[in-house]
Amino acid sequence: MTSAQTSAQDAYAALQQKGLRLNMQRGQPSDQDFGLSNRLIGALNEHDFQMDGTDLRNYPGGIRGLPSARALAANYLDLKDENVIVWNNSSLELQGLVLMFALLHGLPGGQPWAGQPNKMIVTVPGYDRHFSLLEHLGFELLTVLMQPDGPDMDAVERLAQDPSVRGIVFVPTYSNPTGESISPEKAARLAGLKAAAPDFTIFADDAYRAHHLYAEDRDEPVNLVALCRDAGHPNRAFVYASTSKITFAGAGLGFVGSSEDNIAWLGEHLNAQSIGPNKFEQARHVRFLETYSGGLEGLMAEHARLIAPKFAAVDEILSRELGTQGEYATWTKPKGGYFISLDTAEPVAARVIELAGQAGISLTPAGSTFPKGQDDGRNIRLAPTRPPLEEVREAMEGVAVCIQLATEEYRSQR
Ligand SMILES: Cc1ncc(COP(=O)(O)O)c(C=O)c1O
Repeated sequence: MTSAQTSAQDAYAALQQKGLRLNMQRGQPSDQDFGLSNRLIGALNEHDFQMDGTDLRNYPGGIRGLPSARALAANYLDLKDENVIVWNNSSLELQGLVLMFALLHGLPGGQPWAGQPNKMIVTVPGYDRHFSLLEHLGFELLTVLMQPDGPDMDAVERLAQDPSVRGIVFVPTYSNPTGESISPEKAARLAGLKAAAPDFTIFADDAYRAHHLYAEDRDEPVNLVALCRDAGHPNRAFVYASTSKITFAGAGLGFVGSSEDNIAWLGEHLNAQSIGPNKFEQARHVRFLETYSGGLEGLMAEHARLIAPKFAAVDEILSRELGTQGEYATWTKPKGGYFISLDTAEPVAARVIELAGQAGISLTPAGSTFPKGQDDGRNIRLAPTRPPLEEVREAMEGVAVCIQLATEEYRSQR
């Protein structure tokens, strides 16, 4: 046994003695983050059931959402009100609905996808729920790397020559889990891409569009709907977002932005299955955010104040414990979003996660950032937002010990 392995084992034994119970796998806001929005709960009262001339208690109001909520969402996505639908509590549900309507009915002017071979490009490392949704609907997933400036566009352009490739699903801003954002150049390339499928579609999950950590140093979100229109593919992009990481997770507003034709198409299909979304929740969010100091941006700045120190702690502790030369691991340094993506120098991610689990530190399961768990054995998604800062520090010190031990074990066996 090498001396490095012995000292890593000693450090791990000491870690186990601590009896920790920490969780670094949940991409959720903290209780302090939620606390910023507690006034939302009482933002309407028993006399407050009208908005935009509509009685919130009754059915009428339209399929696209309350005008004030649509204005809020349009402003968020940098689009006009006529380019958005505000639906219910989940953007992921909207992504599933659009895919199902495309499968069953075809996109505007296109043929239904169902009954044909269907492939979808996804970026890796990526978001496990995108993979499970697409696989659930029968898509074969084709992976391309998420690079520091967005998807590997050479690979996307090559794959898009296959007419059964329907499009790409990815997170354009502060992606899950790398925290990287697409550059304006790559966004324009995607918008203008020559694809074999006439209805090749960009499904952009812009869940972290406004989730900047630093006021002065931020990734500017791109406007894929406008870029596609300017590139002569007006119906190419659907952009999704929600208030799940703004107010309350899974208890806010999910919305989508796209071309007028796509919005009309989606409205028609939604109208077949619903009289309309929950207008009370929409009105509550409008009231709450219009009275929040600085509006939605003011609220996001408060989140950044809580979250930025946690991201800084992860980087500080990993750099201190593992060095910055990549001997044990490399990791991303996002300017926003909810995650940090770590790659171990050796293919020991599963062992790190196992060791961490045995020491009471819960990490995202190995392989979950790749479809069917087929990763290269190196990627670990770190989610620092939910635990208090002190727990983030403690967990990262423990994770560093686990990375050292797993690496030394691996190296001693070669
Ligand atoms: C990239 C991404 N999209 C969507 C979601 C879920 O969004 P919603 O609550 O609006 O369904 C998450 C949640 O972690 C996410 O990371």
